[in-house]
Amino acid sequence: MNVNGKHYRTIWLNDDGSVRIINQVALPHCFELLDLHTVEDVRRAIKDMYVRGAGLIGACAAFGMYLAALEAQPAFFAQDLAAAARLLKSTRPTASNLAWAIDRMLLSLGVNDNSGVRDIERLRATARAIAQHIADEDADACKRIGEHGLPLIKAIAARKNGAPVNILTHCNAGWLAFVDYGSALSPVYAAFDSGVAVHVWVDETRPRNQGASLTAWELGQHGVPHDLIVDNAGGYLMQHNMVDLVITGADRVTRRGDVANKIGTYLKAIAAKENKVPFYVALPSSTLDFAMDDGVAEIPIEERGGDEVCYIIGKTAGGAIETVRICPDATPARNWGFDVTPARYITGLISERGVCAADATVLAALYPEYAKC
Ligand code: MRU
Repeated sequence: MNVNGKHYRTIWLNDDGSVRIINQVALPHCFELLDLHTVEDVRRAIKDMYVRGAGLIGACAAFGMYLAALEAQPAFFAQDLAAAARLLKSTRPTASNLAWAIDRMLLSLGVNDNSGVRDIERLRATARAIAQHIADEDADACKRIGEHGLPLIKAIAARKNGAPVNILTHCNAGWLAFVDYGSALSPVYAAFDSGVAVHVWVDETRPRNQGASLTAWELGQHGVPHDLIVDNAGGYLMQHNMVDLVITGADRVTRRGDVANKIGTYLKAIAAKENKVPFYVALPSSTLDFAMDDGVAEIPIEERGGDEVCYIIGKTAGGAIETVRICPDATPARNWGFDVTPARYITGLISERGVCAADATVLAALYPEYAKC
């Protein structure tokens, strides 16, 4: 998508084989590109959230496995790749895209077959091609999510006689969370680009403020009308008919359609059901995890450091970026990154194959190859 009118993806390979990313920790105040040269660079970028969002951490991990193939000693190729896979998988537990991308790289490289003789240069070329393919596929899936979600927004717009369709979103599931286009925001961009009047309510998304820092930034870059709101405003807005639909992203979706997404999503879903506001979740199929059924019981929820709750980073009136503490010095804090919204709260899932119910039978019919596993 566009930054100052120029098209960017969130991640790409440089000619020298290093991986270039947009440093999302620096946004919105500074647009900065960073190069990752080693598996350790990739590990740190994912763990410290220089890259974040389900699709993007999957693509970044895939490129990390390519770097692992470059670093691996030919005689220990399989062992070195397996170690890199363990390291990268240990960074963030909730989004299924991460392990999905790493496992796909391992499978394509045949590291589980112990045939011994390996053409290392061919394996490295394969690793590069598959990582690039995973990134391209992510962008393509997100583009199609936009195409499938567009009719939902158009149908609401048709009832509103030109008044903007008000869409509430939580966290950042825009293009910054993927390789391009985004999941939840892809239908919004598709609607805006086709001339439908849209307006987005952007939850700030404490504690890391992905809504305030990232969603507001990317919507602004694209010219989409939006307002930033505090995380607790959604219920009020829904009670007063100020939200036409909610679209969020997802970090993991189980066989029966339970959805893990950024902490606070569950409360929005409850408020939406109570107020009869349609609640959609957008995801590429790399976010599906049919090995899990009951999301509340089974999805691993990342708990991050309490400092993310106790401190806030922002720009001073003088333009300096500063970190300040917002609670008493001795106050302890807990910080769960995600929650699970049970399928019964979800009006529909928007994936690259279409819009469907959050339901085991329907999902299995749409994704038969996943259902077999
Ligand atoms: O902790 P993050 O920023 O990596 O969380 C991921 C998210 O941005 C959200 O949960 C999002 O809605 C799903 S990822 C597209």
